[in-house]
Amino acid sequence: MFKVGVLVSGGGTNLQAIIDAVATKTLPVEIALVVSNRPKAYAIERARVAGVPVRVIPSRKALPRAEHEAQIVAALEEARVDLVVLAGFDRIMVGVLLDAFPGVVINIHPALLPAFAGTLHGQREAFDYGVKIAGCTVHYVTLEVDAGPIILQRAVSVLENDTLDTLSARILEQEHIALPEAIRLIAQKRVRVEGRKARIAPEAS
Ligand code: GRF
Repeated sequence: MFKVGVLVSGGGTNLQAIIDAVATKTLPVEIALVVSNRPKAYAIERARVAGVPVRVIPSRKALPRAEHEAQIVAALEEARVDLVVLAGFDRIMVGVLLDAFPGVVINIHPALLPAFAGTLHGQREAFDYGVKIAGCTVHYVTLEVDAGPIILQRAVSVLENDTLDTLSARILEQEHIALPEAIRLIAQKRVRVEGRKARIAPEAS
């Protein structure tokens, strides 16, 4: 079975979407490990309820980034994951993870990249900018933040009466569709990266 490691920092609704897709057999993978860098993240509870292995590996000011990342890598290697999914993970990686898992780290970003890259608040920046179309992007992680090949994107229209909260909620709904779908495509070996582009092969009939 294709093994996935999921890195989280917050509420974990994207993790929940993956858990649910696995449970309903629309996503044929095993969640081998969830890692949270925040001891109070609700995502930890979601993993426990689902019976998924979870580890808390705190990022502390005193701990150099590379060392923290090496601790996460050790846990992911021990779990023998094939793919690492950043699902609301709020630490920027310095390269240790990418060196250990080249080409198999993906992230969900709450904006249509390359717009509003490099921020944890893509929804707010898009809303404040006044865009008419917003959305989310699942992309490969590279050392340059939010700049790796795009696997898929889902768009939502910005409505005249939207607030930041209503828009963010609709973007989040699309994240919950996009992230399990991207994992499924990768697990099915249908994604091939050619330079900047991630090409998706059609489903075998
Ligand atoms: C999502 O909007 C994700 O795109 C962003 O952080 C949020 C995390 O949500 N990076 P959750 O923890 O999955 O609920």
